[in-house]
Amino acid sequence: MIWLILFFVTLVAQSCAVILTNWTVDDQDSSIIYSGRWDSPALHASPLNYGGYHTLSDDAQGKAVFTFTGVAVYFISSLWPYVVDSYVSLDGATPVYVNLTIRPGMPQDLDAIGDEVALWSEIWKAENLSNTTHTVTITRGPSGFAIVDAFR
Ligand SMILES: *[C@@H]1O[C@H](CO)[C@@H](O)[C@H](O)[C@H]1NC(C)=O
Ligand SMILES: *[C@@H]1O[C@H](CO)[C@@H](O)[C@H](O)[C@H]1NC(C)=O
Ligand SMILES: *[C@@H]1O[C@H](CO)[C@@H](O)[C@H](O)[C@H]1NC(C)=O
Ligand SMILES: *[C@@H]1O[C@H](CO)[C@@H](O)[C@H](O)[C@H]1NC(C)=O
Repeated sequence: MIWLILFFVTLVAQSCAVILTNWTVDDQDSSIIYSGRWDSPALHASPLNYGGYHTLSDDAQGKAVFTFTGVAVYFISSLWPYVVDSYVSLDGATPVYVNLTIRPGMPQDLDAIGDEVALWSEIWKAENLSNTTHTVTITRGPSGFAIVDAFR
């Protein structure tokens, strides 16, 4: 009897043990399709960006679509000392505003090369997704900029 119980406990433990793995996709990865006019990332270099660069659009038609398969996604960006923002939409849902302006009182790296003053971090996330193909679409915020640094 004890062996039977152990057998089932092992089965349940195995079926629950899903190991989640993050991988980070930088702005020039082929899984991100850009449309409209986007700057070359070479124009926006900063050690505070993931991978050392971000790409930017000020085009009202500018759109970046990241396609992935998985159960979570994170929008990664640095922060700026003036108003910078974007919209993020998961699977075509209503775009969510992301504020990429540094909050008062946050530490700022004023010596860093580039206009950014805070190291990249997770700004927006969606978790508990079905393990299927999803898209994240980035468009211009009220600041007039759309920013793509990295996705995870
Ligand atoms: C994946 O990365 C996110 C954002 O950086 C973090 O919150 C999460 O804990 C990480 N998950 C794993 C399994 O490492
Ligand atoms: C974005 O964040 C900055 C800094 O905290 C704040 O001044 C600004 O009002 C915010 N913008 C919006 C639209 O929330
Ligand atoms: C995901 O699900 C877990 C467990 O059900 C919950 O604790 C967590 O808050 C959820 N995360 C999000 C972002 O909904
Ligand atoms: C999602 O599905 C892929 C195969 O399509 C699999 O390799 C992966 O482990 C699954 N991830 C989760 C969290 O279930």
